Parts: sequence; C-alpha cells; structure tokens
Amino acid sequence: MKSIILPAYNKNIIRAMLSLGIEDVDMPQVGEHEVLVKTHAAPVNPSDIAFIQGSYNIKKTLPAAPGFEASGKVVATADSCKQLLGKKISAFVQDDRGGSWAEYFVANKNDLIVLDAQMDMDQAACFTVNPFTAYGLFEIALMRESKAILQNASGGQTAAFIRKMAEDAGMAVIDIVRKEEVKSQLMDNGAKYVLLENDESFEDELISLCKKLEATTAFDAVGGPLAGSMFNAMPADSELVCYGGLSGKAMSGLDTMDVIFDNKIISGFNLMDWKAELEEGAFESISMDLQKKFINHQLSTDIQGSIPLEKLARGLKSYISNMSGGKVLIKP
Ligand SMILES: NC(=O)c1ccc[n+]([C@@H]2O[C@H](COP(=O)([O-])OP(=O)(O)OC[C@H]3O[C@@H](n4cnc5c(N)ncnc54)[C@H](OP(=O)(O)O)[C@@H]3O)[C@@H](O)[C@H]2O)c1
Repeated sequence: MKSIILPAYNKNIIRAMLSLGIEDVDMPQVGEHEVLVKTHAAPVNPSDIAFIQGSYNIKKTLPAAPGFEASGKVVATADSCKQLLGKKISAFVQDDRGGSWAEYFVANKNDLIVLDAQMDMDQAACFTVNPFTAYGLFEIALMRESKAILQNASGGQTAAFIRKMAEDAGMAVIDIVRKEEVKSQLMDNGAKYVLLENDESFEDELISLCKKLEATTAFDAVGGPLAGSMFNAMPADSELVCYGGLSGKAMSGLDTMDVIFDNKIISGFNLMDWKAELEEGAFESISMDLQKKFINHQLSTDIQGSIPLEKLARGLKSYISNMSGGKVLIKP
C-alpha cells in the first residue's frame, strides 16, 4: 500500500514538507483489539504540522507515517472486534506503526467512532478531534456560568464550533484574529466582536470589551504575548484555558498581581484527558448528539479542498498559507 513517509523531523516547515515522500510499504497487521481501516480522507491539522517539525508531544520511530485523524471503512479486525467489520468510522490514530496519511492504517477499537450511516465521509474525516474539543471547552464556559467567551485563532475550525455553540446558548464571543481578511469573513458570517491582534487600539478594545461583556472564560490556542494580553484584559475571577500553542512561543506578560489578588486562573485542556475522565457512556452520547448536528448541517467543518497523496506538498502549502480557509483533506 502507499503511504506518506517522513524521513526526519525538521523545525523548518518548508524543509519538513519537502522531505515528505510517497512510498510502497507493507500493509499494517491488526493486533489485539485493533482494526484495519481503508482510508477515505485524512485532514491536515496543526498537530500534523507540529509533528513533522518534531515539536509535537507525539514522536514516532522514524521513518514514520504522519496523520492523526481520518474517516474510512473497517476492512479487517482482530477476533475481539469482528462486529466492526464493514463499519464506516472516524478514527484518531497515534500509533507508531503508521498514520492516517496512507491508503490503510490500523487503529485501536477504543479510538474509533462508529458513524451514523447518514454522516458525510469528508466531514467524518475531521470529526474525532475539533468538534469534541470545542464541546469540552464550551462545557467549561457553561460550568463557569460565563456571560461571554474570549478566544483567539478565531478563523480556525475549533473556534468556529465554539462560536456556534455559544450562539446557540446565547453567550457572547469576543474573537481575535491576525489577518484583516479573516476579520471581514467572520463579521460577514455574523461574528459580532472581532479584534485584530495587530491593531494599535487592540489592547484598549480588548480590555473594554472584556469588561463590558463580562468575558470570564478565555480559550487560548496561540500562546506568546497574546495569551498574556488576554489574561490581563479579563475581569477578576476569570480563567484562561490553554489548548494550543500555534505561535510556538511561551505564554508571556501575564500580570502576577491578577493571579494573587484577582483570583484569575490559567489551566490547560487536552482532548484525550477530557475523554478519559468522562463517565461511562458519556462520550457515545455526546458523539451521537454531535453527529446529529452534522447530519442536520447545524455544524460542519470548512473544507478548502481535497488532494491525492501524490499532491501532498501542494495541499500542505495551501493549508499553511490559508489556515482560516478550512481543512485540506488527503484522499489516498
Ligand atoms: N488541546 C487539544 O486537545 C486540542 C484539540 C484540537 C485542536 N487543538 C489545537 O487547537 C488549535 C486550533 O486547531 P484547529 O484545527 O481549530 O485550527 P485550524 O482550523 O487549522 O486553523 C488554525 C487557525 O489558527 C490561526 N493561527 C495559526 N497560527 C497562528 C499564530 N501564530 N497566531 C495567531 N493565529 C494563528 C490560523 O489563522 P491564519 O489563517 O491567520 O493562519 C487559523 O485561523 C491548534 O493549536 C490545535 O493543535 C488542541
């Protein structure tokens, strides 16, 4: 079978991208509690970019196949999960033996979501990570009874899901983006409070909006000094939840006095930990609820295009130059 192969990690994203090749490799063998999946589509996510740069928390034995997420059909199974044969699934794969940027991959049965027959398979390719991340993050805002949410990387898909969940719940959202055109797109699509992080008036507007709307929960996917500005702008008793590090820079500039005297908190969110802490049956119930919303078109991931394995370099380039434009799908 054909698979994308990464020969070595490289901090330089252009070199890392150019080093990726397409190779004929052995079909992976299913182990205990595993299934073999024929890939329909696999997205390019920020975690994949960080992975090929060697800066993600998952490191595979090199040479390695990238790709952590996909949709597809189960074509072989271990004895313990024969009932999964032929099922349409979404999968999350961090296995050392392969990745989803390939014609086939193996996945543990616990890392699969068996899909409703009506689920669109392109949408299913991006189903296991971002919708659940947005759900888990939004639950935090609900639990904190926040009147408004503050978030950055707002042109991204996770942020878009959070915006939709907040809109449905009548909660205000302050969005932060780094490009003027992304600000215009979000406002054209109904986002009410969108700030451009490079504007001269950014800090003043941020402070004033956080105060006016009582934004007491913030979701940070960027880190660096922007995380500090967000933290400092929020009122007392606020929480900043970090779930991504897109800038590659450490959070900075946080006001120490706010932590000591204003009861402000910084925390982290990791989807896998969130999932592991759910009560039995809760994940399946959330998954069914989210799938219904995808089938009814209440939720969807923006997809900017699909490419075959052979055109990977072109696909990666278009995603990196326009991440807010939607996901690029790899279709082997
Ligand atoms: N902790 C978890 O469990 C978890 C789960 C899912 C996702 N995540 C993280 O969530 C983040 C968003 O993922 P996604 O799939 O929603 O993203 P996405 O749809 O691929 O879009 C990425 C967004 O981030 C913006 N961005 C990229 N680099 C930036 C920077 N240095 N400063 C400011 N904005 C920047 C992009 O804007 P431009 O168009 O301007 O480039 C784009 O709007 C990623 O860091 C991802 O790893 C974490």
